Amino acid sequence: MTITATFLIIWTCFSALVCAQAMKYLNKEGEISFGNVYLSAEENFFHKLGSLLSHQTTRSIEECWFKCVQNKECLSVNTIALDKSRYRCQLLNWAGTGFEKYLVPKANSKFMQMQTVCSPHPCQNGGQCTVKDGGTNYTCTCTNHTGRNCEINVCSPNPCQNGGRCNVKDEGNNYTCTCFNQYFTGRNCETNILCMPSPCQNGGQCSLKDGGTNYTCTCVGHTGRNCEINMCSPNPCQNGGQCTVKDGGTNYTCTCVGHTGRNCEINMCSPNPCKNGGLCTVKDGGTNYSCSCRTGYIGINCEIKIPSLSTSSRRRRRRVIG
Ligand SMILES: *[C@@H]1O[C@H](CO)[C@@H](O)[C@H](O)[C@H]1NC(C)=O
Ligand SMILES: *[C@@H]1O[C@H](CO)[C@@H](O)[C@H](O)[C@H]1NC(C)=O
Ligand SMILES: *[C@@H]1O[C@H](CO)[C@@H](O)[C@H](O)[C@H]1NC(C)=O
Ligand SMILES: *[C@@H]1O[C@H](CO)[C@@H](O)[C@H](O)[C@H]1NC(C)=O
Ligand SMILES: *[C@@H]1O[C@H](CO)[C@@H](O)[C@H](O)[C@H]1NC(C)=O
Ligand SMILES: *[C@@H]1O[C@H](CO)[C@@H](O)[C@H](O)[C@H]1NC(C)=O
Repeated sequence: MTITATFLIIWTCFSALVCAQAMKYLNKEGEISFGNVYLSAEENFFHKLGSLLSHQTTRSIEECWFKCVQNKECLSVNTIALDKSRYRCQLLNWAGTGFEKYLVPKANSKFMQMQTVCSPHPCQNGGQCTVKDGGTNYTCTCTNHTGRNCEINVCSPNPCQNGGRCNVKDEGNNYTCTCFNQYFTGRNCETNILCMPSPCQNGGQCSLKDGGTNYTCTCVGHTGRNCEINMCSPNPCQNGGQCTVKDGGTNYTCTCVGHTGRNCEINMCSPNPCKNGGLCTVKDGGTNYSCSCRTGYIGINCEIKIPSLSTSSRRRRRRVIG
């Protein structure tokens, strides 16, 4: 900085508006690219441990800015009016957003920052910007977001499947899923344990229903919610009958031996239908019977007594039978 340039600036800085322009011009020489100075807080000064570069007394606020511009490390200033023409001027090496938590109330004070890479608020979603590398770069301190500019929400789009709720953790760098119910599990609620292991027995196929909150078993040769029922076990067929499942395992039939009825429970000869001492024999595989009548009796059930061999009685008998 030449002495001529310094005079030029002090002269120009009579008007704050033009001064900003002048400083912008000045800084083309340096590596720091301040564009302007802007007021960050009034009736307050900035106090963060380690941020104070130097302090001095200046005759104007503009002069304090100018001191800052001359110092490559300076990114912001505190000015505290002592009287009409004397200001305490503090040069600070800090600039960024989120400065509010470092403010200390003080009458007739101003906290002003240089226009820096943090001024256009590059940090999104409430992230706070802090300049680094002498004002040439910045860091975003994100809340529940990540990415250079806090532009990434690890929960958007929602990585949690099946209605799971996403919660950010690790300062926004990671997430956890709260799954819809206890049957969904896995980092992203991608697994449903209702069918793992399968509750369906005897080779039944498990499938989810009702949005994964319930299951159905598709059974093979069995029935029941979990295919646990074999309609032939225990054997419902009595008297040595053979049981066979039918209707996909939901019903059965009995193949009877010498008996009949749904469960082979019927013996056509019991109770004995043959009257008068007739002998009963099952036939047609147990579904019918025949009576072998004692001498003197006839009829399907031996219910007819043969009359004595007189003409009249023979005639009567014909009448009865015929
Ligand atoms: C600024 O810092 C980030 C890391 O925070 C880095 O990735 C980037 O390259 C830096 N940019 C410059 C211009 O140095
Ligand atoms: C950050 O996320 C946590 C947990 O999800 C939440 O409690 C908190 O309110 C969030 N903070 C902000 C600023 O959104
Ligand atoms: C995120 O958290 C999970 C556990 O919830 C962990 O397994 C994973 O490694 C973490 N990822 C990162 C990038 O930290
Ligand atoms: C699941 O479905 C079965 C029928 O397949 C039903 O009996 C049962 O009540 C259901 N359970 C629930 C929790 O909805
Ligand atoms: C099972 O089959 C028998 C005939 O063998 C039938 O009478 C019965 O109604 C069936 N039961 C069912 C539940 O379908
Ligand atoms: C049973 O056998 C008798 C003859 O002994 C016959 O008349 C009857 O029709 C048979 N019943 C059936 C149901 O087959």
